[in-house]
Amino acid sequence: MAVETNRIVLEAQGLTKAFGGNIVLNGVDLTLRAGEVHAIVGENGAGKSTLIKTLGGVHRPEAGRLMIEGLETTLRSPRDAIVRGLVVIHQELSLAPHLSAAENIFLGHFPRNRLGFVDRHHMHQHTRELLDRLNIDIDPARPTGELSIAQQQMVEIAKAISFNARILILDEPTAVLDESMVGTLFDLIGKLKAEGIGIVFISHHLEEIFRIADTVTVLRDGKRTGVSPVSAIDQNWLVSKMIGRDFPEHKARARKSGEPALEVTNLSLDGSFEDISFSARQGEIVGLAGLVGAGRTEIAQAIVGITRPTSGAVKVFGRTVRLRNPNAAARLGIAYVSEDRKALGLLPNRPVRENATISNLSRFRRLGFLRLNRERDYVRNIIKKLDIRLSGMDAEIRTLSGGNQQKVLIGRALAVEPRILIFDEPTRGVDIGAKGEIYALIEELVASGMCVILISSEMEEILRLADRIVVLRRGRVAATLSREEASETSIMRAAALAG
Ligand SMILES: Nc1ncnc2c1ncn2[C@@H]1O[C@H](COP(=O)(O)OP(=O)(O)OP(=O)(O)O)[C@@H](O)[C@H]1O
Ligand SMILES: [Mg+2]
Repeated sequence: MAVETNRIVLEAQGLTKAFGGNIVLNGVDLTLRAGEVHAIVGENGAGKSTLIKTLGGVHRPEAGRLMIEGLETTLRSPRDAIVRGLVVIHQELSLAPHLSAAENIFLGHFPRNRLGFVDRHHMHQHTRELLDRLNIDIDPARPTGELSIAQQQMVEIAKAISFNARILILDEPTAVLDESMVGTLFDLIGKLKAEGIGIVFISHHLEEIFRIADTVTVLRDGKRTGVSPVSAIDQNWLVSKMIGRDFPEHKARARKSGEPALEVTNLSLDGSFEDISFSARQGEIVGLAGLVGAGRTEIAQAIVGITRPTSGAVKVFGRTVRLRNPNAAARLGIAYVSEDRKALGLLPNRPVRENATISNLSRFRRLGFLRLNRERDYVRNIIKKLDIRLSGMDAEIRTLSGGNQQKVLIGRALAVEPRILIFDEPTRGVDIGAKGEIYALIEELVASGMCVILISSEMEEILRLADRIVVLRRGRVAATLSREEASETSIMRAAALAG
């Protein structure tokens, strides 16, 4: 298929969006051509998601013009955008889990036979053709709830293509994927590009920009601070446009480990993981590495009492414990920061203040009264320490950008003054500057004697922070690597290869 690649498919000029008088998008321009992959980068709260929600008809801009395929357009809803060939895939996927891939893809535009009934035969055939064309290997009849996150994302993309999307916009699609799945997604993006589809994609992983993007737009505080062909720039250019300064160098640390804090022995949970043993001391960071699905989160959840292990033992500071729920864990000084902030953490419609202190209200309470001043002091302190960007601590947490929500949850875990802190993907969706701040904070906590268990899919993160790395594969310990033995290669080898 011959593809025209110079044609402009989307053009935004001077897009401006404010929430309650607070301007979060300030005169932003964006041009997207057919067959172009256009990355958008910027710090947490820079306005990236707001930009694509405005492009996708979720928000109405206060000012600015939007041209789709050369026609000036006003979008009143996401539906309006879809009809014009522009589909946004938000970070929270929106498939109906009990419906099959085929049903999800054709939801809202089912093929009908002459009698007006849904033509299931046609539907499955179309789906199979579509998946084949995109090289996606998924059974169209399987409920999407049974598919992996990566596969669900593929189904969402196939669904967009079934609407004849010419413009596809993805908000942090790689944040939930491990490195092997990122490759599969990028192959698919390459395929769409070759078909002449224009693609906009947001990522905090700057190396991905250099891997697949043709063009990059940088936002800072709602303004465009840079736009360039990727071939003409380097990482330093990106970072300086993003944060207005160079990325702080990492200082090597000296650590002194103390007594054993957490000892896990032959822990098993039927169907999830088997025979897991490792231990971590005070003042030590133990990393749990592995591919998505290796069982890392399941192990963490069993340790903190969210699930009950079938066998094995957990010792906390030398005492064998059987934790029934996360509150019991908190009483022993164990805190857990979940990777899934939606399911396990946030109260979206409650203020930031409440979200930050909810797990340890007793600390802020006296004789049954909430000591508001104490609570406010604590929250003010973590906002400062974690550099959380918000309009105020009474703002509903759902109005914060994704990365800033994550920082509030870290602040919540610290409110219980834990001695053992289990971090599950602590910097998911967090920008490069804030990442540095979170790393510094973790280092500081560990230096003061805290024991940290770090689950991370990011090689760089785990290599930089962990004293020891337990690599899991399919629910079992595949290797335990010292700092000296650990490298990207040794971890990947243990995580992915049979042997
Ligand atoms: N519905 C809303 N109501 C009020 N403020 C909002 C709303 N949505 C976003 N904001 C604010 O707009 C700003 C930009 O948020 P946005 O979600 O676009 O950031 P982002 O660049 O996507 O950040 P991240 O990398 O953390 O996802 C933030 O300060 C956020 O608090
Ligand atoms: Mg965002």
